[in-house]
Amino acid sequence: VTAPDLAGRHVVVSAGGTREPLDPVRYLGNRSSGKQGYALAKAAAARGARVTLIEANTGLPDPAGVDLVRVGTAVQLREAVVKAAADADAVVMAAAVADFRPAAYASGKIKKTDDGGAPTIELVRNPDILAEISADRALPGQVVVGFAAETDDVLANGRVKLRRKGCDLLVVNEVGERKTFGSEENEAVVLAADGTETPVPYGPKEALAETVWDLVVPRLRGASG
Ligand code: PMT
Repeated sequence: VTAPDLAGRHVVVSAGGTREPLDPVRYLGNRSSGKQGYALAKAAAARGARVTLIEANTGLPDPAGVDLVRVGTAVQLREAVVKAAADADAVVMAAAVADFRPAAYASGKIKKTDDGGAPTIELVRNPDILAEISADRALPGQVVVGFAAETDDVLANGRVKLRRKGCDLLVVNEVGERKTFGSEENEAVVLAADGTETPVPYGPKEALAETVWDLVVPRLRGASG
C-alpha cells in the first residue's frame, strides 16, 4: 500500500519532448517518449497528490486521476509550467526541452533548389524554464526538480548543471542503449543542492519515480522530520 505522503499537495510534472516547427511538415525534436514523466505523475497521484501533467508530443494514453495539459513547443511548455507552478508545492521537469528553435517559421514547405544547395537554418535560444522557475519560486519553499540527460562526464556535468539551474534536486541519467530516452528502464544519480547524492540502480522508470518523490517529500514546505 502506497503511503499518501503527497496528500494535500499540488505537484506539476512535465513529460515528453518539445517540437520546434520549421515549416508545415517539419520540426526539430528529440527522442523523449514521455515514459519517465508519466511514471512520475502516476506515482504522485498514487501518493495522494493533485497532479498537473504537462505533456509534449508523447502520444501516451491519458493517465487516470491527473490534470493533463498538452503542449507542443518549448514556449508553450514554459507558459503552461509557469501557470501551473503558481500554487504548486513541487515542480518536476522530466521533459526534454529544445534549447533552440528555428528563428523563422516558413509558412510553405521548404523546397529543394536546382543549384544543389541546402538551406541554412538559423536558430534562436528558447527560454530555460527550469532555471526560471528555480530563480523565481512562485511560493516560498517550493521544491524544484530537474532532469539531465548526459552522454559523457555524466556526474561532473550534472553537478555543474545543478548549480547553474538552481534547482533543489537534479536527476542525472546517462543516455544509453537500454535506458533513458524511450526505454522502459532508467538508471540515475539524484544530486541534491545540499550535496547528497542518491544512486538509483538500473530498473523500471516507476522505481526511479518513487525515489524522486521519496527525496521531494522531506523537502516540502512544512514537512516534518
Ligand atoms: O521521456 P523518456 O523517453 O521516458 O526519457 C526520459 C528523459 C531522458 C527525457 C528524462 O529522464 C530526462 O532526462 N529529461 C531531461 C532531458 C534533457 O536533455 O535535459 P537537459 O539536460 O537538456 O535539461 C536539463 C533540465 O532543464 C531538464 O529538467 C529540462 O526539462 C530543463 N530545461 C532544458 C532546456 C530548456 N530550455 N528549459 C528547461 O527547462
